[in-house]
Amino acid sequence: MCRTERPGDGDDIDEVVCAAFGRDDEADLVWALREQGAISLSQVAEYEGAIIGHLAMSPVQVNGEDTGWLGLAPVSVWPDCQQQGVASAMIREALDSANELDWAGVVVLGEPAFYRRFGFRPASELGLECAYPGAGDAFMALALKQPVPTGLVSYHPAFDDLA
Ligand SMILES: CC(C)(COP(=O)(O)OP(=O)(O)OC[C@H]1O[C@@H](n2cnc3c(N)ncnc32)[C@H](O)[C@@H]1OP(=O)(O)O)[C@@H](O)C(=O)NCCC(=O)NCCS
Repeated sequence: MCRTERPGDGDDIDEVVCAAFGRDDEADLVWALREQGAISLSQVAEYEGAIIGHLAMSPVQVNGEDTGWLGLAPVSVWPDCQQQGVASAMIREALDSANELDWAGVVVLGEPAFYRRFGFRPASELGLECAYPGAGDAFMALALKQPVPTGLVSYHPAFDDLA
C-alpha cells in the first residue's frame, strides 16, 4: 500500500533509505530536505504496517527560476522487498499526485530503461539540461503541463552534499 508520509514516519523512512543505499548520505539528504521544507511530495510504501519503501520529490529550478517542476529523488526500497514492483507502485502514485497537485513536470536522474515505462524521456529531448555534468541520458523528464521550460535544471542545494 502506498500513502503520503505522515508526521512521525521520519525514523522509519531513515532506516529504509539507509538500508537501500547501504550508507547514510541519502537518508541525511531526506532529513535535510524535510527540515528545510523542501519536500513537496513524500510517498511511502507499507507492508503489514511497516514502511518498506520511500520516495521524495523536491522543487528544481530551471535557469535559476521556480517553474513548477519537481526532482524525483531519492527512491528507496528495503533490500529484501526489491524486484517486486514496490518502487514502480510508489512512482506511479507520486506522479498521479504531482499531476493532481498541478505541478508542471518531473525530472529524474536514473536508469533510462526503468524510468521510460512511467513516461520519462531523455530530458535533452525536451530542452532540459542537468546542472550536474555528465548526467547524459540518465537525466530524464516527464512534462505534466505545457509549455515546457527549457534550460539548465538545478536541484535543491542539499543535493550538492551527495558524493
Ligand atoms: C532502484 C529501486 C528503488 C527499485 O525498487 P524496486 O521496488 O526493486 O523496483 P520495481 O520492483 O518496481 O522494479 C524493478 C524491477 O522489478 C521488476 N518488477 C516489477 N514488479 C515485479 C514483480 N511483481 N515481480 C518481479 N519483478 C518485478 C521491474 O520490471 C523491474 O525490473 P527491470 O528494471 O529489470 O525491468 C531499488 O532497487 C533500490 O532501493 N535501490 C537502491 C537505491 C537506489 O539506487 N535508488 C535509485 C536511485 S535514487
